[in-house]
Amino acid sequence: MKKLMDSLNWRYATKKYDSTKKLTKKELNDLLEVLRLAPSSYGLQPWKFVVVENKDLRKSIQQAAWNQSQVSEASHLVVLCTRTDLDENYVKKYVDFMSQESGAPRDKLAAVENMMLGFRKGLTSEQVVEWGKKQVYLACGFLLMAAGLKKIDASPMEGFDPVKVDEILGLKEMHLTSTVIVALGHRSAEDKYASAKKVRFSKEDVVVVNK
Ligand SMILES: Cc1cc2nc3c(=O)[nH]c(=O)nc-3n(C[C@H](O)[C@H](O)[C@H](O)COP(=O)(O)O)c2cc1C
Repeated sequence: MKKLMDSLNWRYATKKYDSTKKLTKKELNDLLEVLRLAPSSYGLQPWKFVVVENKDLRKSIQQAAWNQSQVSEASHLVVLCTRTDLDENYVKKYVDFMSQESGAPRDKLAAVENMMLGFRKGLTSEQVVEWGKKQVYLACGFLLMAAGLKKIDASPMEGFDPVKVDEILGLKEMHLTSTVIVALGHRSAEDKYASAKKVRFSKEDVVVVNK
């Protein structure tokens, strides 16, 4: 636990990156694996994670993101997206996949399938996207924590225009919408935010114990 606590105090929302310091392929792949393994409600994984390598695209995204320099200067940029195609067919296909992966006979999964279908039917297409975004934020939390543990700097960003970012990356055609962006890399020695005191409410303020 000490290692985790130290890394939570070490990490901060990095504002300035050292562009010469790149993540290794293994570091990037490990962090993408953390995203893939993140939990989601019903296990439905309503997400995709877009790694933007193209420099021009990153510049365009920066312009759609309050000109935040992290977007272009960090080693890597991941746009965490919510799926917009989570309909009843998606649920059925997911149950097929569950059966295939777990070895459980398809008909034994009828109860869980009906529960998921009932959940989906109870939401409009807009509501299911809003629900999906919550799952994506959870995956974002896993990513930030894992990056901190590996001494990789990260910047979560919701300060961007999702309509513009969706357009830049052609996400609509992929049945996705950009939800939160995370820049990854290594901090610049000049980033004064690295030494800023953490501003957090006290335990008494945020933990309520009902006895
Ligand atoms: C979901 C999310 C979105 C954020 N968006 C931005 C952003 O667009 N720009 C920015 O400079 N910081 C952004 N932040 C960073 C927060 O301001 C920062 O995490 C918070 O002030 C706590 O500071 P710390 O992370 O450095 O400990 C975001 C953080 C989160 C969790």
